[in-house]
Amino acid sequence: MTEKDFLTSEYSSSKKTGKFRWKSPSNIALVKYWGKKKNQVPANPSLSFTLDTCTTDTSLSYQKLEKKVSKFSFDLLFEGKSKNDFRPKIETFLHRIETYLPFLREYHFSIETSNSFPHSSGIASSASGMSALALCLMSMERELVPDMNSDFFNKKASFLARLGSGSACRSIQGPLVQWGNHSTIEGSSDFYGIEYPYKVHDIFKNFQDTILLVDEGQKQVSSTVGHDLMHGHPFAEQRFGQAHMHLCDFQTILEDGSLKDFIKIVESEALTLHAMMMTSHPYFILMKPNTLKIINKIWAFRETSKTNLCFSLDAGANVHVLYPENEKETVYKFIKSELLQFCQHGKHICDRTGLGAREN
Ligand code: DP6
Repeated sequence: MTEKDFLTSEYSSSKKTGKFRWKSPSNIALVKYWGKKKNQVPANPSLSFTLDTCTTDTSLSYQKLEKKVSKFSFDLLFEGKSKNDFRPKIETFLHRIETYLPFLREYHFSIETSNSFPHSSGIASSASGMSALALCLMSMERELVPDMNSDFFNKKASFLARLGSGSACRSIQGPLVQWGNHSTIEGSSDFYGIEYPYKVHDIFKNFQDTILLVDEGQKQVSSTVGHDLMHGHPFAEQRFGQAHMHLCDFQTILEDGSLKDFIKIVESEALTLHAMMMTSHPYFILMKPNTLKIINKIWAFRETSKTNLCFSLDAGANVHVLYPENEKETVYKFIKSELLQFCQHGKHICDRTGLGAREN
């Protein structure tokens, strides 16, 4: 499908008021999206586990206005309080998607949103937040186009979410979502995420992700700025090529259930992401001393215990500890006794792979 397939001509029906509510999860990338072209088109394909516990719950009430407005009309409550800092992001999002949802200027919207994870935890809420809002808007469009099928609904929700935040397009479905054109992945697209279409070994079912909150502060460099620094980056082309290769490697790994190879790619992806940051102009470092202490502890424990835990990193200092469900007891014991000392006030979130967003 191309961008044109998501345009809508005329709606045959119209609604005056209504309300929708969606709960949408965050995700952790195994192959990272870092670098983008115009219109939120990724510079390389990516793959992620959809999470289960870290979610954003968003409700959208709408009321038809007397006439179309020139400025989008909406109010916004975050965790029960009005939140002006979020307005520009939502305005940008609405501008980007209005071609695809022509009714947006005909309504007043009341958006209420809250996260299951602490606000200042350093966990990015853009993936769960933008996907939840995109889904509410799609529910609204589905009312106006009643014969819309669920495949189109999911694709367009992902398409819209991507325009809010790239990684958000991987939060509609689960447990494994791929986004971005790839020569050997059938149905892959730069415009939306798809459920990973090939066989996945049972060892990856209900995979655990314990998120260690190393640094709860605001990031010094936003993802948007970081993506931009991949333009003219000395290693950009090699990096994009590597992501394509890693996706090829994943096809065998996911089918065979080879945890050793899984670990090699996941950790290499996390470190490459941060290596790109450290070699941009200007360069920057988002890891903290405790991030490195945790990584070293994980490597030492993996060696002695022969368990299969590994780490991943997002654009921040927090560490995602990934491990199969059948090693949960041993690994969590290790996390409690050896790793929580490096977290702010011992804070962590026990998450696992999940099935995607749910309507409430
Ligand atoms: C490091 O999706 O937050 O988490 O499209 O500018 O909103 P924007 O960026 P964003 O980038 C996330 C990057 C990442 C890796 C990933 O999730 O693939």
